[in-house]
Amino acid sequence: MSKIVKINNKIRNFKKTITVPGDKSLSIRWVLFASLANGMSKAKNLLMSDDVLATIKAIKKLGIKVIINKKECIILGKGIDGYKYKKGLTIDAQNSGTLGRLILGLLINSPHPINLIGDKSLSKRDFSRVTDPLSKFGVKFKLKNNNLLPLKFCGSSELKPIKYYEKKGSAQCKSSIIFAGMRTNGITIINAKKSRNHTELLCKYLRLPIIVKKNNNFDEIKIKKVKKINTINYDIPSDISSSAFFIVLTALSSNSELTIKNVNINPSRIGIITILKKMGVKISFKNKKIYKGEKKADIKIASAKKIRAINCPPKLNSGAIDEFLVIFLVAARAKGVSYFRNLGELNQKESPRLKWAEKILTNLGVKTITTNDSIKIFGNPNLNMSLDKKIVIKNYLKDHRVFMTSLIAALTFGGEWKIHDKDSINTSFPNFLKIIDDLKKWLKEKTF
Ligand code: S3P
Repeated sequence: MSKIVKINNKIRNFKKTITVPGDKSLSIRWVLFASLANGMSKAKNLLMSDDVLATIKAIKKLGIKVIINKKECIILGKGIDGYKYKKGLTIDAQNSGTLGRLILGLLINSPHPINLIGDKSLSKRDFSRVTDPLSKFGVKFKLKNNNLLPLKFCGSSELKPIKYYEKKGSAQCKSSIIFAGMRTNGITIINAKKSRNHTELLCKYLRLPIIVKKNNNFDEIKIKKVKKINTINYDIPSDISSSAFFIVLTALSSNSELTIKNVNINPSRIGIITILKKMGVKISFKNKKIYKGEKKADIKIASAKKIRAINCPPKLNSGAIDEFLVIFLVAARAKGVSYFRNLGELNQKESPRLKWAEKILTNLGVKTITTNDSIKIFGNPNLNMSLDKKIVIKNYLKDHRVFMTSLIAALTFGGEWKIHDKDSINTSFPNFLKIIDDLKKWLKEKTF
């Protein structure tokens, strides 16, 4: 089957209700917590994507039994000290920064050396952001060029608690330190710039010894050694980051309406909603509920009549960090110049995303001024491409979000697109094209 998706039809108007798969951050965290629990935990709607399957493979390598059937995923945890550390163990985080970084915190008491490897994209991403704080617990890491995978380390049985100032606003870094703190006598203190707080919420739900003091831009987190983790059954709500592609598709299509069911709307994740509302998109939450400490709701979106440019306040960045590529498409349609800044972290993702944003927007004929950490987008409310405009998207390190953003651009703005490496979607959203296809079913031919 071809790995290239060709598109030369814009999407027509639709009124639909859809469901997208389970949240990736919550799925990975559930697998890790369940692997440390005493007994059987079950999850429904666990995201079955490559990143989560890599997490399951990793805990299996550590001697934890996992059963996956049609209805649920079952993990038979062996307790907080239940991992089996074999000699010469290699954990492959594949494409997942979250797995690679979080699991390091859990492995820092390993009695034998462990290797951590990843795919081509992950091997270009900085790991010193976690190995620096984890070294302070008393563990020695050896990394390629001091910050890249593959890395090797040997854990310690004499870990010392640390006090760490996490300034990047990285939930992966914060979570890795929380996990290490769970294994360490004494109180570990993290002053962490605001970022998604699923790990803290799960710790609280599980009644682990964590205290979170919320301040304006930073949270102070105190965590003590954990003796026991109870099993946790979880019905994973849908992923707002996957919903983002359909939120933008609807906002940019004419006369369309979409409801996305049962989405996690943790306030630390809904930057896209705040940003798009400021730009004039109509979005609302229905059936709001709280589930195990997390908020969830159905999201309702309608086509936007007029889109305003935005000078995006950097305090919204961390809550929309995975959604910026697709948010930039909305700015491309806005009246006026939009400005997004303090976004250097975007170039630390699965691909250098600010660069890819510039490439996609330039292909659309949209002027941008891009620096290492900012982008100005000169919007055009009449942006529309003719079929003789041919666009090819390839060699983007198989970044799932570059693929999906390009596809939304093709369906929205027109032109003839060839987007390579369609299997990149397996990282986070395996049925993405199936949902698009369902929305497009009025078209004569299937595109994929
Ligand atoms: C994630 C945190 C974010 C995000 C990633 C998932 C997590 O990364 O980009 O997709 O689940 O903790 P950073 O922590 O590096 O910002």
